[in-house]
Amino acid sequence: MARNLHLLLTVAWKNNSVMLIDQTKLPNKLVYVKCKDYKEVADAIKKLVVRGAPAIGVTAAFGLALAVQESKAKTLQELMTDLDTAFNTLRATRPTAVNLFWALERVMDKAKKARVLHEAKKVVLDEALKMSEEDIHANRQMGAIGAKLFRDGEVVLTHCNAGSLATVAYGTALGVIRAARESGKRLSVIATETRPVMQGSRLTAFELQHDGIDVSLIPDTAVGHMMAKGAISRVIVGADRVLRTGHVFNKIGTYQVAILANRHKVPFYVAAPLSTFDFESSPEDVVIEERSVDEVVKVGKKRIAPKRVRVFNPAFDMTPPELITGIITERGVLMPPFEKNLKALLG
Ligand code: MRU
Repeated sequence: MARNLHLLLTVAWKNNSVMLIDQTKLPNKLVYVKCKDYKEVADAIKKLVVRGAPAIGVTAAFGLALAVQESKAKTLQELMTDLDTAFNTLRATRPTAVNLFWALERVMDKAKKARVLHEAKKVVLDEALKMSEEDIHANRQMGAIGAKLFRDGEVVLTHCNAGSLATVAYGTALGVIRAARESGKRLSVIATETRPVMQGSRLTAFELQHDGIDVSLIPDTAVGHMMAKGAISRVIVGADRVLRTGHVFNKIGTYQVAILANRHKVPFYVAAPLSTFDFESSPEDVVIEERSVDEVVKVGKKRIAPKRVRVFNPAFDMTPPELITGIITERGVLMPPFEKNLKALLG
Protein backbone atom coordinates (compact mmCIF):
# COMPACT_ATOMS: atom_id res chain seq x y z
CA MET A 1 0.00 0.00 0.00
CA ALA A 2 1.28 3.48 -0.83
CA ARG A 3 2.51 5.37 2.23
CA ASN A 4 2.68 9.08 2.78
CA LEU A 5 6.01 9.46 4.53
CA HIS A 6 6.87 12.29 6.88
CA LEU A 7 10.11 13.63 5.46
CA LEU A 8 13.11 14.99 7.28
CA LEU A 9 13.94 18.50 6.07
CA THR A 10 17.73 18.72 6.19
CA VAL A 11 18.31 22.33 5.10
CA ALA A 12 15.89 25.24 5.33
CA TRP A 13 15.88 29.02 5.14
CA LYS A 14 13.90 30.34 8.11
CA ASN A 15 13.69 33.79 9.70
CA ASN A 16 16.72 35.05 7.76
CA SER A 17 18.88 32.13 8.97
CA VAL A 18 19.92 28.74 7.66
CA MET A 19 18.52 25.86 9.68
CA LEU A 20 20.40 22.55 9.46
CA ILE A 21 19.76 19.18 11.06
CA ASP A 22 22.93 18.67 13.10
CA GLN A 23 24.04 15.36 11.60
CA THR A 24 26.95 15.03 14.01
CA LYS A 25 24.34 14.43 16.76
CA LEU A 26 22.42 11.69 14.92
CA PRO A 27 21.12 9.11 15.63
CA ASN A 28 20.93 10.04 19.32
CA LYS A 29 19.45 13.52 18.96
CA LEU A 30 17.43 15.06 16.14
CA VAL A 31 18.18 18.76 16.58
CA TYR A 32 18.55 21.75 14.29
CA VAL A 33 21.36 24.30 14.39
CA LYS A 34 20.87 27.84 13.23
CA CYS A 35 23.57 29.55 11.11
CA LYS A 36 23.33 33.33 11.16
CA ASP A 37 26.38 34.16 9.06
CA TYR A 38 28.23 32.59 6.15
CA LYS A 39 31.26 31.64 8.26
CA GLU A 40 29.01 29.50 10.47
CA VAL A 41 27.72 27.84 7.29
CA ALA A 42 31.27 27.15 6.09
CA ASP A 43 32.13 25.70 9.46
CA ALA A 44 29.02 23.48 9.45
CA ILE A 45 29.99 22.08 6.03
CA LYS A 46 33.57 21.42 7.13
CA LYS A 47 32.51 19.69 10.35
CA LEU A 48 29.88 17.51 8.60
CA VAL A 49 26.99 19.11 10.51
CA VAL A 50 25.55 19.08 6.98
CA ARG A 51 26.96 16.64 4.43
CA GLY A 52 25.98 14.83 1.25
CA ALA A 53 26.58 16.46 -2.13
CA PRO A 54 23.18 18.10 -2.87
CA ALA A 55 22.71 19.24 0.75
CA ILE A 56 26.15 20.86 0.77
CA GLY A 57 25.37 22.70 -2.49
CA VAL A 58 22.08 24.20 -1.32
CA THR A 59 23.51 25.05 2.12
CA ALA A 60 26.41 26.92 0.52
CA ALA A 61 23.97 28.83 -1.71
CA PHE A 62 22.10 29.92 1.44
CA GLY A 63 25.53 30.86 2.86
CA LEU A 64 25.82 33.45 0.07
CA ALA A 65 22.36 34.74 1.00
CA LEU A 66 23.65 35.23 4.56
CA ALA A 67 26.69 37.06 3.18
CA VAL A 68 24.30 39.47 1.43
CA GLN A 69 22.49 40.09 4.73
CA GLU A 70 25.78 40.69 6.55
CA SER A 71 27.15 43.03 3.92
CA LYS A 72 27.25 46.77 4.62
CA ALA A 73 27.84 47.50 0.93
CA LYS A 74 26.48 50.78 -0.41
CA THR A 75 27.22 49.98 -4.04
CA LEU A 76 26.83 46.97 -6.30
CA GLN A 77 30.61 46.73 -6.62
CA GLU A 78 31.08 46.65 -2.84
CA LEU A 79 28.45 43.92 -2.54
CA MET A 80 30.19 41.84 -5.22
CA THR A 81 33.47 42.15 -3.30
CA ASP A 82 31.76 40.89 -0.12
CA LEU A 83 30.11 38.07 -2.05
CA ASP A 84 33.46 37.08 -3.56
CA THR A 85 34.98 36.78 -0.09
CA ALA A 86 32.11 34.55 1.06
CA PHE A 87 32.28 32.55 -2.18
CA ASN A 88 35.99 31.82 -1.61
CA THR A 89 35.44 30.78 2.02
CA LEU A 90 32.51 28.51 1.15
CA ARG A 91 34.18 26.87 -1.85
CA ALA A 92 37.24 25.98 0.25
CA THR A 93 35.23 23.82 2.68
CA ARG A 94 35.21 20.47 0.87
CA PRO A 95 36.85 19.57 -2.45
CA THR A 96 35.12 16.51 -3.92
CA ALA A 97 31.34 16.99 -4.17
CA VAL A 98 30.78 19.07 -7.30
CA ASN A 99 27.38 20.36 -6.15
CA LEU A 100 29.20 22.80 -3.88
CA PHE A 101 30.95 24.53 -6.79
CA TRP A 102 27.93 24.20 -9.07
CA ALA A 103 25.65 25.89 -6.53
CA LEU A 104 28.04 28.69 -5.60
CA GLU A 105 28.80 29.49 -9.23
CA ARG A 106 25.14 29.44 -10.20
CA VAL A 107 24.26 31.99 -7.50
CA MET A 108 27.29 34.17 -8.28
CA ASP A 109 26.41 34.18 -11.99
CA LYS A 110 22.93 35.49 -11.14
CA ALA A 111 24.36 38.18 -8.88
CA LYS A 112 26.86 39.25 -11.56
CA LYS A 113 24.02 39.85 -14.00
CA ALA A 114 22.26 42.29 -11.66
CA ARG A 115 22.44 45.96 -12.65
CA VAL A 116 21.67 47.57 -9.31
CA LEU A 117 22.44 46.81 -5.65
CA HIS A 118 18.95 45.85 -4.50
CA GLU A 119 18.48 43.55 -7.50
CA ALA A 120 21.72 41.69 -6.70
CA LYS A 121 20.66 41.33 -3.07
CA LYS A 122 17.32 39.87 -4.07
CA VAL A 123 18.52 37.42 -6.72
CA VAL A 124 20.96 35.68 -4.38
CA LEU A 125 18.28 34.53 -1.94
CA ASP A 126 15.76 33.88 -4.73
CA GLU A 127 18.23 31.63 -6.54
CA ALA A 128 19.15 29.71 -3.36
CA LEU A 129 15.46 29.13 -2.58
CA LYS A 130 14.87 28.00 -6.16
CA MET A 131 17.72 25.51 -5.92
CA SER A 132 16.34 24.14 -2.69
CA GLU A 133 12.96 23.49 -4.34
CA GLU A 134 14.57 22.08 -7.47
CA ASP A 135 16.54 19.62 -5.36
CA ILE A 136 13.40 18.08 -3.84
CA HIS A 137 11.74 18.04 -7.28
CA ALA A 138 14.74 16.31 -8.91
CA ASN A 139 14.78 13.71 -6.13
CA ARG A 140 11.07 12.98 -6.61
CA GLN A 141 11.62 12.66 -10.36
CA MET A 142 14.56 10.28 -9.85
CA GLY A 143 12.41 8.36 -7.41
CA ALA A 144 9.56 7.95 -9.90
CA ILE A 145 11.98 6.88 -12.65
CA GLY A 146 14.15 4.60 -10.51
CA ALA A 147 11.29 2.92 -8.64
CA LYS A 148 10.27 1.17 -11.85
CA LEU A 149 13.53 -0.80 -11.83
CA PHE A 150 12.63 -2.64 -8.62
CA ARG A 151 10.69 -5.84 -8.33
CA ASP A 152 8.50 -6.58 -5.32
CA GLY A 153 10.43 -8.14 -2.43
CA GLU A 154 13.95 -7.03 -3.39
CA VAL A 155 16.82 -6.67 -0.93
CA VAL A 156 18.77 -3.54 -1.80
CA LEU A 157 22.21 -2.67 -0.52
CA THR A 158 23.22 0.95 -0.11
CA HIS A 159 26.50 2.49 1.05
CA CYS A 160 26.93 5.75 2.98
CA ASN A 161 23.87 8.01 3.17
CA ALA A 162 22.25 9.26 -0.01
CA GLY A 163 18.94 10.01 1.62
CA SER A 164 16.91 12.95 2.89
CA LEU A 165 19.88 13.76 5.08
CA ALA A 166 22.20 14.14 2.08
CA THR A 167 19.80 16.39 0.16
CA VAL A 168 17.24 19.06 1.05
CA ALA A 169 14.72 16.24 1.47
CA TYR A 170 13.68 12.83 0.04
CA GLY A 171 17.14 11.74 -1.12
CA THR A 172 18.69 10.33 -4.27
CA ALA A 173 19.45 6.61 -3.77
CA LEU A 174 17.11 6.45 -0.76
CA GLY A 175 14.62 8.59 -2.69
CA VAL A 176 14.39 5.81 -5.27
CA ILE A 177 13.84 3.29 -2.47
CA ARG A 178 11.21 5.60 -0.89
CA ALA A 179 9.42 5.96 -4.22
CA ALA A 180 9.43 2.18 -4.76
CA ARG A 181 7.88 1.80 -1.29
CA GLU A 182 5.34 4.54 -1.97
CA SER A 183 4.34 2.69 -5.15
CA GLY A 184 3.49 -0.31 -3.01
CA LYS A 185 6.58 -2.51 -3.56
CA ARG A 186 7.97 -4.31 -0.54
CA LEU A 187 11.71 -3.73 -0.17
CA SER A 188 14.31 -4.41 2.48
CA VAL A 189 17.44 -2.35 2.70
CA ILE A 190 20.88 -3.46 3.79
CA ALA A 191 22.93 -0.48 4.94
CA THR A 192 26.69 -0.69 5.31
CA GLU A 193 28.11 1.02 8.38
CA THR A 194 30.40 3.18 6.22
CA ARG A 195 33.57 3.51 8.27
CA PRO A 196 35.06 5.75 9.44
CA VAL A 197 32.35 8.43 9.79
CA MET A 198 29.50 5.87 9.93
CA GLN A 199 27.02 7.62 7.66
CA GLY A 200 25.39 4.22 7.08
CA SER A 201 24.75 3.32 10.69
CA ARG A 202 24.25 6.81 12.09
CA LEU A 203 22.23 8.30 9.23
CA THR A 204 20.87 5.74 6.73
CA ALA A 205 19.67 3.31 9.41
CA PHE A 206 18.19 6.26 11.33
CA GLU A 207 16.32 7.82 8.42
CA LEU A 208 14.95 4.54 7.06
CA GLN A 209 13.72 3.56 10.52
CA HIS A 210 12.24 7.04 10.88
CA ASP A 211 10.24 6.41 7.69
CA GLY A 212 9.27 2.85 8.59
CA ILE A 213 11.36 1.24 5.83
CA ASP A 214 12.83 -2.17 6.69
CA VAL A 215 16.58 -1.82 7.23
CA SER A 216 19.41 -4.06 8.47
CA LEU A 217 22.91 -2.89 9.21
CA ILE A 218 26.07 -4.77 8.20
CA PRO A 219 29.77 -4.04 8.68
CA ASP A 220 31.44 -2.79 5.49
CA THR A 221 33.51 -5.94 5.52
CA ALA A 222 30.40 -8.17 5.18
CA VAL A 223 29.39 -7.02 1.69
CA GLY A 224 31.20 -9.84 -0.16
CA HIS A 225 29.82 -12.47 2.18
CA MET A 226 26.23 -11.23 1.79
CA MET A 227 26.52 -11.11 -2.00
CA ALA A 228 28.10 -14.55 -2.18
CA LYS A 229 25.11 -15.90 -0.18
CA GLY A 230 22.75 -14.37 -2.74
CA ALA A 231 21.26 -12.12 -0.05
CA ILE A 232 21.39 -8.92 -2.12
CA SER A 233 19.46 -8.37 -5.34
CA ARG A 234 20.57 -4.83 -6.21
CA VAL A 235 22.92 -2.06 -5.13
CA ILE A 236 21.98 1.61 -5.24
CA VAL A 237 24.25 4.42 -4.10
CA GLY A 238 24.43 8.19 -4.50
CA ALA A 239 27.30 10.23 -5.93
CA ASP A 240 29.40 13.26 -5.11
CA ARG A 241 30.52 13.77 -8.70
CA VAL A 242 29.71 12.00 -11.95
CA LEU A 243 31.96 12.65 -14.93
CA ARG A 244 30.68 12.71 -18.52
CA THR A 245 32.53 9.42 -19.04
CA GLY A 246 30.44 7.77 -16.29
CA HIS A 247 33.19 7.70 -13.65
CA VAL A 248 31.46 8.06 -10.30
CA PHE A 249 33.04 9.60 -7.21
CA ASN A 250 31.27 8.59 -4.02
CA LYS A 251 31.97 7.70 -0.40
CA ILE A 252 35.09 5.66 0.23
CA GLY A 253 34.23 1.98 -0.11
CA THR A 254 31.82 2.40 -3.01
CA TYR A 255 34.43 1.06 -5.44
CA GLN A 256 34.83 -2.15 -3.43
CA VAL A 257 31.07 -2.63 -3.34
CA ALA A 258 30.95 -2.15 -7.14
CA ILE A 259 33.70 -4.73 -7.69
CA LEU A 260 31.90 -7.24 -5.48
CA ALA A 261 28.59 -6.55 -7.23
CA ASN A 262 30.26 -7.15 -10.59
CA ARG A 263 31.80 -10.43 -9.32
CA HIS A 264 28.42 -11.65 -8.07
CA LYS A 265 26.36 -10.26 -10.98
CA VAL A 266 24.34 -7.94 -8.75
CA PRO A 267 23.11 -4.85 -10.68
CA PHE A 268 24.90 -1.73 -9.44
CA TYR A 269 22.98 1.56 -9.83
CA VAL A 270 23.90 5.14 -9.01
CA ALA A 271 21.24 7.79 -8.40
CA ALA A 272 22.44 11.34 -9.04
CA PRO A 273 20.77 14.56 -10.14
CA LEU A 274 22.31 16.52 -13.01
CA SER A 275 23.66 19.01 -10.43
CA THR A 276 26.11 16.24 -9.46
CA PHE A 277 27.47 15.92 -13.01
CA ASP A 278 30.80 17.49 -13.86
CA PHE A 279 30.97 17.82 -17.63
CA GLU A 280 34.47 19.26 -17.68
CA SER A 281 36.83 17.25 -15.47
CA SER A 282 38.77 14.09 -16.19
CA PRO A 283 39.24 11.46 -13.46
CA GLU A 284 42.74 12.74 -12.58
CA ASP A 285 41.46 16.32 -12.07
CA VAL A 286 39.16 15.40 -9.18
CA VAL A 287 40.52 16.10 -5.71
CA ILE A 288 39.77 13.33 -3.24
CA GLU A 289 39.29 14.82 0.20
CA GLU A 290 41.71 13.53 2.85
CA ARG A 291 40.12 13.83 6.27
CA SER A 292 41.48 13.89 9.79
CA VAL A 293 43.51 10.96 11.09
CA ASP A 294 41.33 11.05 14.23
CA GLU A 295 38.38 9.66 12.27
CA VAL A 296 40.37 6.43 11.81
CA VAL A 297 42.36 6.04 15.01
CA LYS A 298 39.49 6.88 17.38
CA VAL A 299 35.99 5.62 18.00
CA GLY A 300 34.29 8.51 19.74
CA LYS A 301 36.93 9.71 22.17
CA LYS A 302 38.56 6.32 22.58
CA ARG A 303 41.79 5.60 20.73
CA ILE A 304 41.75 2.27 18.88
CA ALA A 305 45.12 2.38 17.09
CA PRO A 306 48.65 2.80 18.42
CA LYS A 307 50.05 6.32 18.68
CA ARG A 308 52.19 7.51 15.75
CA VAL A 309 50.83 4.86 13.34
CA ARG A 310 50.73 6.19 9.76
CA VAL A 311 47.13 6.66 8.55
CA PHE A 312 45.52 7.36 5.19
CA ASN A 313 41.95 8.62 5.33
CA PRO A 314 40.59 9.33 1.83
CA ALA A 315 36.90 10.23 2.07
CA PHE A 316 35.90 9.27 -1.49
CA ASP A 317 36.83 6.84 -4.24
CA MET A 318 36.14 6.49 -7.95
CA THR A 319 34.07 3.72 -9.50
CA PRO A 320 34.82 3.26 -13.21
CA PRO A 321 31.94 3.13 -15.71
CA GLU A 322 32.42 -0.55 -16.57
CA LEU A 323 31.24 -1.51 -13.06
CA ILE A 324 28.05 0.57 -13.25
CA THR A 325 24.78 -0.87 -14.57
CA GLY A 326 22.98 2.46 -14.86
CA ILE A 327 22.84 6.01 -13.52
CA ILE A 328 19.39 7.22 -12.48
CA THR A 329 18.89 10.94 -13.13
CA GLU A 330 15.83 13.19 -13.05
CA ARG A 331 15.74 12.96 -16.87
CA GLY A 332 15.87 9.18 -17.13
CA VAL A 333 18.18 6.23 -16.55
CA LEU A 334 21.54 6.67 -18.24
CA MET A 335 22.81 3.35 -19.56
CA PRO A 336 26.25 2.51 -20.98
CA PRO A 337 27.95 3.76 -23.06
CA PHE A 338 27.50 6.71 -20.70
CA GLU A 339 29.28 9.46 -22.62
CA LYS A 340 27.31 8.84 -25.81
CA ASN A 341 23.99 8.35 -24.04
CA LEU A 342 24.50 11.42 -21.84
CA LYS A 343 24.42 13.61 -24.95
CA ALA A 344 21.10 12.07 -25.94
CA LEU A 345 19.73 12.40 -22.39
CA LEU A 346 20.60 16.10 -22.30
CA GLY A 347 19.10 16.60 -25.73
O1 MRU B 1 31.35 12.80 3.35
P1 MRU B 1 29.88 12.86 3.03
O2 MRU B 1 29.02 12.29 4.12
O3 MRU B 1 29.46 14.25 2.60
O4 MRU B 1 29.72 11.91 1.77
C1 MRU B 1 28.45 11.73 1.23
C2 MRU B 1 28.40 10.72 0.15
O5 MRU B 1 29.40 10.19 -0.28
C3 MRU B 1 27.05 10.44 -0.46
O6 MRU B 1 26.97 9.13 -0.89
C4 MRU B 1 26.84 11.37 -1.66
O7 MRU B 1 27.05 12.70 -1.32
C5 MRU B 1 25.53 11.18 -2.27
S1 MRU B 1 24.35 12.25 -1.62
C6 MRU B 1 22.85 12.10 -2.28
